[in-house]
Amino acid sequence: MSPTNQNRKPLYIAICTQKGGAGKSVFTTLVASYLHYQRGYNVAVMDCDYPQWSIYKMRQREAEQIERNSFYQNKAEVFFSKLNKLTYPIVPSQPEAGLQQAKEFLSQEKHIYDVVLFDLPGTVNNESVVQTYFSMDYLFVPITTSRINMESTLPFMISVNEMITMNQGNIKLRSIHPFWNMVASKEKQELYDYYEKAILELGIPIMQTRIPKSVRYDREQSIEGNDYLFLSTIFPPDKPLLKGSNLDLLVEEIITIVNN
Ligand SMILES: Nc1ncnc2c1ncn2[C@@H]1O[C@H](COP(=O)(O)OP(=O)(O)OP(=O)(O)O)[C@@H](O)[C@H]1O
Ligand SMILES: [Mg+2]
Repeated sequence: MSPTNQNRKPLYIAICTQKGGAGKSVFTTLVASYLHYQRGYNVAVMDCDYPQWSIYKMRQREAEQIERNSFYQNKAEVFFSKLNKLTYPIVPSQPEAGLQQAKEFLSQEKHIYDVVLFDLPGTVNNESVVQTYFSMDYLFVPITTSRINMESTLPFMISVNEMITMNQGNIKLRSIHPFWNMVASKEKQELYDYYEKAILELGIPIMQTRIPKSVRYDREQSIEGNDYLFLSTIFPPDKPLLKGSNLDLLVEEIITIVNN
């Protein structure tokens, strides 16, 4: 993946997990915004998590709020005139129609996309959704050391990884990459070592970047006052909030993986 490479099809990436409330939509948004606004990639987001459509609805809320707020209007004017492109599109879709809709969307667009990020439903109860998972190029999975998270995420990662290893030619998916999310400063290192070893033995390497548990990940920034922003579909994270979030490290690690 390189910014606006004319010759390649966009990469399909999903930040996904079976576990509800683990950070799919938050990280899909943050990675999209960082790549698009900070790193020069052209990004599109397919919001396939119907009926929540949380990213699509966040964009709508932000767009409405910005209309009424001169601080953010000015910020947008300055930012987008320098950026020289628009916000990334967020396309709402039914889960089982995501692939087809992405294809149609891309064929109608004039400019080239480098990456399409999919927010997929955690419940894979339908053949087309299974197919959508295996039609991604890469999956990135937020995990935590909580037992309940491990119990639902491990079997998912194992079965996906088996399918990749046995690939019988009908799978596009290249690899699956778990990363630690919601890491508390007091948590025991031994627990991480234990799980990392166990997961590595299954042939699945855990990413190096660990995302701390932090309120900046837990709050949608409303574009109403004049605060720093972190989670937004219209702006990249502001530097003071980016610092210590490890989001930048996560995105750089993702770029390294997909360029390998
Ligand atoms: N590192 C973190 N620190 C603190 N809170 C976090 C962190 N990561 C995610 N969260 C919070 O966890 C909650 C769930 O995140 P999110 O909505 O992205 O999950 P999801 O996997 O999309 O959930 P769903 O299954 O409902 O679609 C949100 O309130 C989010 O802000
Ligand atoms: Mg979600």
